[in-house]
Amino acid sequence: KTLSELPHPSGRVPLLGDIRSVDRHRPTQHEAHLARELGPIFQRLLLRDRLVVVGGAKLAKETLDEQSWGRVLVGPLAKLREIVTSGLFTARSSDPLWGQARRILTPGFSQAAMRAYHHAMQTVADDLAVKWKEDPDVDVHSDMTAATLEIIGRAGFSTPMGLLGDHAAASQGTDAFVAALSRVLAWASESTNDLPVIGPIREVFAAPGIRRDVNYVRGFVDDIIERRQKDSSVENDDLLGLMLTTRDTETGELLPVENVRDQVLTFLAAGHETTAALLEVALYHLAADPSVGDLIVAEELSDGAALDYDEVVRLRRIKALINECLRLCPPAPGFFRIARSDQELGGYLVPAGRAVFVLSLAAQRDPAVWGADADEFRADRFLGKRLTASSPEFFAPWGTGPRSCIGRQFAIHETTLLTGALLSKYRLTLDKPVELRLRERATLRPEPFRIVATPRGRTR
Ligand code: HEM
Repeated sequence: KTLSELPHPSGRVPLLGDIRSVDRHRPTQHEAHLARELGPIFQRLLLRDRLVVVGGAKLAKETLDEQSWGRVLVGPLAKLREIVTSGLFTARSSDPLWGQARRILTPGFSQAAMRAYHHAMQTVADDLAVKWKEDPDVDVHSDMTAATLEIIGRAGFSTPMGLLGDHAAASQGTDAFVAALSRVLAWASESTNDLPVIGPIREVFAAPGIRRDVNYVRGFVDDIIERRQKDSSVENDDLLGLMLTTRDTETGELLPVENVRDQVLTFLAAGHETTAALLEVALYHLAADPSVGDLIVAEELSDGAALDYDEVVRLRRIKALINECLRLCPPAPGFFRIARSDQELGGYLVPAGRAVFVLSLAAQRDPAVWGADADEFRADRFLGKRLTASSPEFFAPWGTGPRSCIGRQFAIHETTLLTGALLSKYRLTLDKPVELRLRERATLRPEPFRIVATPRGRTR
């Protein structure tokens, strides 16, 4: 069967297509809903653009085969490319600079590197714990934004961002940077869901504001790079140092400085939004059911003591909890795959060169492989579970293949450390019963909510 025969949402309009079935603000959540209704593979047609969505675990798993499928830059990624052309995330795989940067940066994400970053991550956890002691009424969104940016700043660039701790007074325009970056990401993801007619019109009105934001964000990044180039006292063993001083083993070349700028921006953006989203989901669940945290503390965390690198690596209950958060609320809710040659997927012919959208958000909740309680948050689901390429479960929150997340171990170490450090000191509760609602701005991230952090030992 051809792709035009795929199931589609009801209420198709002549010419315009499935226009009634577009949710500009929560597109992937709406698509996950449609996947339940329409099955493991469906289409949504807008004018002549047909989006093919793969939401069933079995079919989604088939697209992970690198022989038959590859990565492709469409959707929000293509939009982001207009701003960050040659960063790791947005560069084409065929661009020699992508391979060069990936080779230069890979040691920056090794186990040895994580050991080196541990201390910087720990200082952020300490700063946050002090902040919560002074004010136990926690705005989770703003604190996780601050914590993740501080971590990438301090660990990756040896540059405190001025958002937490002693450095907070000396904020260097980071708040304005966060606001501008957030608007740019919103622009990239929302304009992808515009109708081909409306898009260009909206673009004209948004353009001056977005251009201003992009300039601000670039200036902020240039300052970080310039400060480093002038400061010879910093050792060049962090990510920024690697980028500025390491020669590629294959080409013998240094990265061009415009490329370093794109990489720094990529790391600031890719490294904070996603990780903050994950931490927020974890804190939500811990606060919604404090008994989950109590069990973790009883089993894995001796009261309040600082965790060293090896202890963090051994926190298996927290890792299971984090995986469950990634399964239910993947910060990157899906990714595009392109057929390298004609492929058959679920009985439909996907011609060579055709892209499909693999919706992790749906496939990671597919009851056919995750069970009847697939939609439920069960922190111990991953305890003792080892997923391999041949497991039936689809679980790809870090993407797949050579373009999968380079920051995976960094993100796992920082979220495990922060969750462990905070949980060992505080019992968390929601300040009022709220549902977890996710908004979409390139990432899937909780809407702001508050928790109350009560020091352990003085639990109400
Ligand atoms: C790529 C998820 C944290 C840097 C990706 C991809 C996913 C992902 C799904 C592949 C996207 C695609 O194929 O289109 C996540 C999640 C994170 C996280 C869920 C946190 C919970 C981080 C961190 C960093 C980072 C902390 C940096 C410090 C990158 C980069 C790429 C990438 C540079 C592009 C790699 C390439 O194409 O060579 N990430 N990420 N990410 N991520 Fe992450």
